[in-house]
Amino acid sequence: MSNQFPDRSDGPIPGKLTLTELARMKRDREKIAMVTAYDAPSGRLADAAGVDCVLVGDSAAMTVLGHESTVAVTVDELLVLMRAVSRTVRHALLVADMPFGSFQVSDQLALENAIRFVKEGGADAVKLEGAAATLTRVGTIVAAGIPVMGHVGLTPQSATMLGGYKPQGRTAERAWQLLQDAIALEEAGCFAVVLEAMPEPVAARITEMLRVPTIGIGAGGSCDGQVLVWHDLLGLTPGHVPQFVKQYAAVGDQLLTALRGYVADVRASRFPESRHTYSMPKAEQALFEAQFQAFLGRTSRP
Ligand code: KIV
Repeated sequence: MSNQFPDRSDGPIPGKLTLTELARMKRDREKIAMVTAYDAPSGRLADAAGVDCVLVGDSAAMTVLGHESTVAVTVDELLVLMRAVSRTVRHALLVADMPFGSFQVSDQLALENAIRFVKEGGADAVKLEGAAATLTRVGTIVAAGIPVMGHVGLTPQSATMLGGYKPQGRTAERAWQLLQDAIALEEAGCFAVVLEAMPEPVAARITEMLRVPTIGIGAGGSCDGQVLVWHDLLGLTPGHVPQFVKQYAAVGDQLLTALRGYVADVRASRFPESRHTYSMPKAEQALFEAQFQAFLGRTSRP
């Protein structure tokens, strides 16, 4: 059935972007385009647009589920979104973000949850935020055969510890630490590392030093690839958007205009028109009318 999510039990599905291809893109300086997606239509559109990697981000907590931060979203909630996206993504490498609480407790729990994202969610890979304590999680998950994407810089799951949603690595000491963290993630087995919200020169040096691709978000143009959140890119985020976002459309405004038009049409009886309604054979309609008239004679309704 075409609407089932792809069966990955026999290895990568044909036409899927492979990790080897991603590594080649870095070597050949071909930029990698990544975007988040949270449902079947967004997965389909991302794939059709030629996106290389699709991330079902824990940003879903805010963009889709209406939370104030990313920490509230659970594995089970993200699995529902993962399954929807995996039903429509055929080409892009599909990455599942491991939410807060799903990998912090132990290597064992991290592996169990990573396996759920692959088996139940249809993920090709998982992403974990942070370095330090995350390193043994990365090693354990990679050893089990699941590719891991790292994430350093502004890691929203620990935004409170980092002093809020603000750029990281703006002192030499902090920049040096980010470089060490990224190298450690590569050495632990990550196939790529997200660099979020850091000065361009820092991201450039990390990108130069790593053998695996870096995917930047608010980290400048030197990274091997870029990722943006679906709602930010398309103009669906209400209010403030971060400085690093480029909005490629104003879909939110278009949706609002469309919905206002619908409300106005319904109120003014302009919708539905005859072309939106079903007809019935004339003879059947006459029969129904006759039955209705007889019914009118015996009922006290309405
Ligand atoms: O959850 C997410 O959307 C992310 C990206 C910003 C990289 O982690």
